[in-house]
Amino acid sequence: MDKITELQAKMAEAMLGGGEVRIASQHKKGKLTARERLQLLMDEGSFEELDMLVTNRNRGLTSDQEQFLGDGVVTGYGTINGRLTYVFSQDFTVYGGSLSEPHARKICKVMDLAMQNGAPIIGLNDSGGARIQEGVVSLGGYADIFYRNTQASGVIPQLSAIMGPCAGGAVYSPAITDFILMVEQTSYMFVTGPNVVKTVTHEEVTSEELGGAQTHAAKSGVTHFACANEIECIQYLKQLLSYIPQNCEETAPVYPYEPGNEVREALNTLIPANPNQPYDMKDAIAQITDTDSFFEVHKNFAENMIVGFARIAGRSIGIVANQPAHLAGVLDIHASVKGARFTRFCDAFNIPLLVLVDVPGFLPGTDQEWNGIITNGAKLLYALSEATVPKLTVTTRKAYGGAYCVMNSKHIGADMNFAFPQAEIAVMGAKGAVEIIFKKEIDAAPDPETRMNELVADYQERFANPYLAAEKGYIDEVIQPDQTRIKLIKAFKMLENKVVNMPRKKHGNIPL
Ligand code: HXC
Repeated sequence: MDKITELQAKMAEAMLGGGEVRIASQHKKGKLTARERLQLLMDEGSFEELDMLVTNRNRGLTSDQEQFLGDGVVTGYGTINGRLTYVFSQDFTVYGGSLSEPHARKICKVMDLAMQNGAPIIGLNDSGGARIQEGVVSLGGYADIFYRNTQASGVIPQLSAIMGPCAGGAVYSPAITDFILMVEQTSYMFVTGPNVVKTVTHEEVTSEELGGAQTHAAKSGVTHFACANEIECIQYLKQLLSYIPQNCEETAPVYPYEPGNEVREALNTLIPANPNQPYDMKDAIAQITDTDSFFEVHKNFAENMIVGFARIAGRSIGIVANQPAHLAGVLDIHASVKGARFTRFCDAFNIPLLVLVDVPGFLPGTDQEWNGIITNGAKLLYALSEATVPKLTVTTRKAYGGAYCVMNSKHIGADMNFAFPQAEIAVMGAKGAVEIIFKKEIDAAPDPETRMNELVADYQERFANPYLAAEKGYIDEVIQPDQTRIKLIKAFKMLENKVVNMPRKKHGNIPL
């Protein structure tokens, strides 16, 4: 029996004997095994495993080390919906999926292949962190991965699914990748766990509260998706890939599209007559984009900003939109960072952007100022200014103050700017403006309230409309809302071959 056959027989035996126990222990925790996950993720029969015969070589702490083929991670390549994808899937049943030197080398090998061959890499993470028995070589292995994550950023899409523990410095590989997906109840991410937290800050907190999927989806924004279970997580991974290209030199796949009646009458009545009444921008998105094509990212985080992928006439776009149904669509720190990061992903991967604007301005207050709304708001401004993909804007209602400039105005490089007739594009809202510029006149009036109302009405008529901006060419066209989809289809088509030459530089310095 040659070496390979012997090892393969040994492995088969392990799967049937000791292996079964390990699989059962994983199932008991409500988790699939590394291989079951790969079976669900990759097209049937497409997965080719690499480095199956690499084994652990722990030294030091114990002498009776078992040999585990694969050393806690399954790596390889295959296809997802027919498209080449590289993958690694950590095996918690081997030393808690902890990262040894050979384990890290296997991951680095598929990362290098993904970079060399221009295809996405997906990491299915389920690991107790650095292999304690290995010491510094394990830390070195992590750093090797972080370095590759950084080199690959903006070159190939990198997706991280967290399907178990992910703690300590290990969190930084997913953090550098483009998207994180977490499974509810069975996954968590934190730099220091509940025990250390208790010792240092005396806070009592569970793993789930500290770093579970809901926490990171809604509070920290670390994860882009919280998935009900592993199957949903794998579905989301596939769905996400369907909107994005293989690498930064390519464009996203185009889906079949039959032109039909593109007039969307529902948009004529979506925006309430009262400018202070909220409405759901997602209703506008549903009308504008191809049926059921909107795939929201970061759904539970900074809900005053909506970001996500969709298709228009079969082509992928990224949407960045204010949400008037939440905090009136105001721009705050979290919303700005959320919009900026998504914008940069789309720009890096040639996905055109659609920006939908209904924003009363930046959120005032000490909380925002002291936590850096200046620096963080600048991220969104920078990201949209820097983006060279086709950029379209539709102002559905308010575009006030600095937020007008930031939300993909003509001045920062938007290609086509449309506005609905009821759009209000001005330095500030009518009441605030009148209170400042007519303060003396209002105070001196016999009936200040009546005078103020008159001045507000006058201001609204003169300034709170899209026509002053359209006269200057800042708005290319004031459109009937029901025509929005037609206008966008034509404009995106017109911009298909857009080329922008950037000034020569090493890289910019986004205000981090
Ligand atoms: C070696 C490990 C391990 C590790 C778990 N195991 N973590 N072996 N190195 N880091 C082993 C356990 O000994 C056990 O082996 C098996 O994996 C399953 O672990 P359990 O504890 O039984 O599982 P569970 O109860 O589900 O708990 C999972 C866990 C816990 C919460 C992850 O194992 C744990 O706290 N592990 C240590 C986590 C940690 O501190 N890692 C280092 C973080 S620092 P047996 O043989 O009994 O089945 C770090 C630095 C990275 O990662 C820095 C990068 C820059």
